[in-house]
Amino acid sequence: MAWLQISVVADQQAAHEVADLFTELGALSVTYMDAEDEPVYEPALNETVIWSHTQVVALYEMTADPVLIKHRISESFQLSRLRHWEFDVINDQVWERAWMEHYHPMKFADRLWVCPTDQERYEKDTVCLTLDPGLAFGTGTHPTTALCLDWLARQNLRGKTIVDFGCGSGILAIASLLLGAENAYAVDIDPQAITATQNNAEKNKVQDKLISCLPEQFAASDVRANVVVANILAKPLIDMASHISNLLIIGGQLVLSGILAEQKEDVVAGYNPFIMLNCCVQQEEWVRLAGTKH
Ligand SMILES: C[S@@+](CC[C@H](N)C(=O)[O-])C[C@H]1O[C@@H](n2cnc3c(N)ncnc32)[C@H](O)[C@@H]1O
Repeated sequence: MAWLQISVVADQQAAHEVADLFTELGALSVTYMDAEDEPVYEPALNETVIWSHTQVVALYEMTADPVLIKHRISESFQLSRLRHWEFDVINDQVWERAWMEHYHPMKFADRLWVCPTDQERYEKDTVCLTLDPGLAFGTGTHPTTALCLDWLARQNLRGKTIVDFGCGSGILAIASLLLGAENAYAVDIDPQAITATQNNAEKNKVQDKLISCLPEQFAASDVRANVVVANILAKPLIDMASHISNLLIIGGQLVLSGILAEQKEDVVAGYNPFIMLNCCVQQEEWVRLAGTKH
């Protein structure tokens, strides 16, 4: 089966109205995409981000009339507010798995494989993490996750307690357990991340050593960890500096990522009263900061 995809680039004010019109005209789905390079790193929960120029993409059954749809939408707006109309025929596929075509096994520090389901690699002196991230962030392909995985794969985690703060798919907590950690706590504000983490823990047979929960549930425990790894974003990391640092025992190690290179000094300054983050590694525009609590 095939589908008709119609898209147009709209300005910020017009984008929602265009999406509503697509829906009124029978679209099966409407999505927003960045029409220019204007990254939004992490919108708040339930927030739909509209860029200055948003590509509004609608999917229709093949019986839809593209000329009529374009005409009906164009007549509602000044010509200058809509540009780049595109019409494509899309062949049916398993949509939620489509992106997996670009997801391949990855190796970190010669010790840790991260592999999509059914593509596992078992190699001497390595461990293999099987991952199906579901709707949560964290496949290992993003530089911020890769930086944290690389750090974990270089440590001796045997017998240690790990906190993965902002766990997404649970990738960092699960990797820690496979690399020998005694137990791990995976914390996230997004309930979908908690579900994905539990599913991935079961898939990797580490569910008995992992607790995944929302921050308020975690706050009720008085867990102190040997390692806290938090891949979130600079601002929330700075806001939570005291709380995150407090999760570590003396001698424990803190690993932070999700930080753009130009934000490094602000994060180091934010943590300075608690922990000196004196180790910095950069990949693309992102950095990983690490330090030991004294
Ligand atoms: C960039 S993802 C990282 C996911 C995974 N740990 C990884 O390294 O790929 C950041 C995660 O932090 C979560 N998050 C954002 N703010 C948070 C907060 N204040 N407390 C806990 N989790 C938070 C988000 O929901 C998201 O799942």
